[in-house]
Amino acid sequence: MLAHPDNQASMERYRRHAAGYDSSAERTMPLRLRTIALLDLQVGQVVLDVGAGTGLSYGPLLGAVGSTGRVLAFEQSPEMFELARQRVSRHGWQNVWHVNQPAETVQLPQVADAALFNYVHDITRTPAAVQNVLRQLKPGAPVALAGMKFFPWWTGPLNLLAWLKNRPYNAKAGDLWQPWSLLAAHLDDFRWLPTQAGMGYIGHGLFRGLPP
Ligand SMILES: C[S@@+](CC[C@H](N)C(=O)[O-])C[C@H]1O[C@@H](n2cnc3c(N)ncnc32)[C@H](O)[C@@H]1O
Repeated sequence: MLAHPDNQASMERYRRHAAGYDSSAERTMPLRLRTIALLDLQVGQVVLDVGAGTGLSYGPLLGAVGSTGRVLAFEQSPEMFELARQRVSRHGWQNVWHVNQPAETVQLPQVADAALFNYVHDITRTPAAVQNVLRQLKPGAPVALAGMKFFPWWTGPLNLLAWLKNRPYNAKAGDLWQPWSLLAAHLDDFRWLPTQAGMGYIGHGLFRGLPP
């Protein structure tokens, strides 16, 4: 089956970004750790890393779920996934299950207790992707997400900057007003707060379960 043009566009972007991704993402490590902390992970839990990229979140997630827990992950870009695969083998992690597949069709080996959506805008803005991921989470699962958003509308031209920063990474670059909305519709107690002077956000809530 041919990939959707947005998936294709995203994979082309990450073909170019993969080699430099880890060094460019280093400065946002505190934000990543803050987002992961919102999952309130417990030892022994199964946590899903959505659109895992090069696997930069695997270490902190494994640190939280311990040797009796498990990280499940998927990533559609072959180049990003290859770096994640190398990371796992370099560290000798036994309790990471990950595959090179898109969010729209991935099948996890078990349901997850919690899910991280860290800077995966193209996934959080794709209804079929959100639906396929959510159906593989336990009702009540904590979900945390972070990403870019537009500044408030009254800041006007500043949003050109947000769009320009988003465009090299995301196929759905303009969809930045409420990037959390598709997920938030399925979360109880959803809250979000601005980060990076208003150009980013962190959100979290508890998965309500999908209607039958
Ligand atoms: C900005 S990176 C974030 C990677 C990782 N979550 C992190 O925190 O470092 C966005 C990732 O989402 C992946 N992605 C985009 N659309 C996807 C899809 N439909 N299915 C799976 N992965 C996707 C990209 O290939 C890319 O690796």
